[in-house]
Amino acid sequence: MSGSGVAENAARCSDDAHRAVGRRPAAGPCWSRNGACSPVIRAVGRGLDDNVVVGSRLVGIATPAAPGSVRLDTGAPRAHPGVVAAPAPLDIPARLRAAGCVFAEDEAAVLWASAQDAEHLESLLTRRLTGEPLEQVVGWAEFSGLRIRVGPGVFVPRRRTEWLVVQALAGLRETPGRPAVLDLCCGSGAVSAALAAASGSRPIEMVAVDCDPTAVACATHNAPTATVLVGDLYAPLPVAWRGRFDIITANAPYVPTDELVDLPSEARLHEPPTALDGGRDGLDVQRRIVAGALEWLAPSGRLLIETGRHQADRTAGLFRAAGLTATVSTDDEIAATVVIGSRPPAPAPARDHRP
Ligand SMILES: C[S@@+](CC[C@H](N)C(=O)[O-])C[C@H]1O[C@@H](n2cnc3c(N)ncnc32)[C@H](O)[C@@H]1O
Repeated sequence: MSGSGVAENAARCSDDAHRAVGRRPAAGPCWSRNGACSPVIRAVGRGLDDNVVVGSRLVGIATPAAPGSVRLDTGAPRAHPGVVAAPAPLDIPARLRAAGCVFAEDEAAVLWASAQDAEHLESLLTRRLTGEPLEQVVGWAEFSGLRIRVGPGVFVPRRRTEWLVVQALAGLRETPGRPAVLDLCCGSGAVSAALAAASGSRPIEMVAVDCDPTAVACATHNAPTATVLVGDLYAPLPVAWRGRFDIITANAPYVPTDELVDLPSEARLHEPPTALDGGRDGLDVQRRIVAGALEWLAPSGRLLIETGRHQADRTAGLFRAAGLTATVSTDDEIAATVVIGSRPPAPAPARDHRP
């Protein structure tokens, strides 16, 4: 999951994170998680026209453009299915701001664009004002440039997990033929969808597993070319697939149980505990994933697990104890940490010293 414990999970949006999406530094409490802005707002932020005045009022409407992108228009009402082509009530940003939302104007634009009519807008707004993640309210999150469906009660993919995708893609590039990828704890299927999309014309065999049927329903939608299975880690996989996977990715829950209480309420109240709770030290699910990996990895396959910055050494230790190599790969900008391992190289054959 996202979090390496509370420090990373509970962080407010940093000023840098705000600048990264072209906004002013945070002036107050922010609902964003993990010190990185909401995936929806990032999408909108990137689409902001330089001329848009961002102030105390709604500046335009966000209209769904191509899948995976959001365009923020500035002004003229549009006839667009699903978009309210009238000025949004000006008190919406104010109500959002009063509730502690730093990106009030942007969130108002997203809510407005998602509403069928005024009544629907009010119901979306009410859900947001009571703390439900914006992504669950509008039903999607931006991840690796894709628009990922996220239903109520489903873990919202975090920006930091894009690093897991980047590292898995590096592994895929070194894999000949048609690679087989297993995405454990797939949640909404964000990682699977991103890998399938990024591999482009080179098809990959994608398998995704999650124990939560609600998440699996989202993953089936988001990664339509993947085989998505419900169950406990490797349990739903056919025995015949042992030794088959070139890449295994996992963003499993890794928040230590004691630290769950310190998570932002968006996560604590609106994401299932099974998506967050990693047990006493946060590594319970990772431990089981690593223990089973050698059985399912192809001979030169790689295991990649997202973990917390402060847990990385212990996650790497699990890899080594299971007979895998372990390298810790980080991206400070998005506070991402991934441990990557594979089977150690076979020892060189002993020299024959006979004359
Ligand atoms: C932190 S979320 C990550 C979801 C997704 N990989 C992502 O990055 O957005 C962890 C996911 O692991 C799933 N999960 C937890 N324990 C599991 C288990 N034993 N077997 C399969 N899935 C599990 C949860 O249902 C949840 O969807």
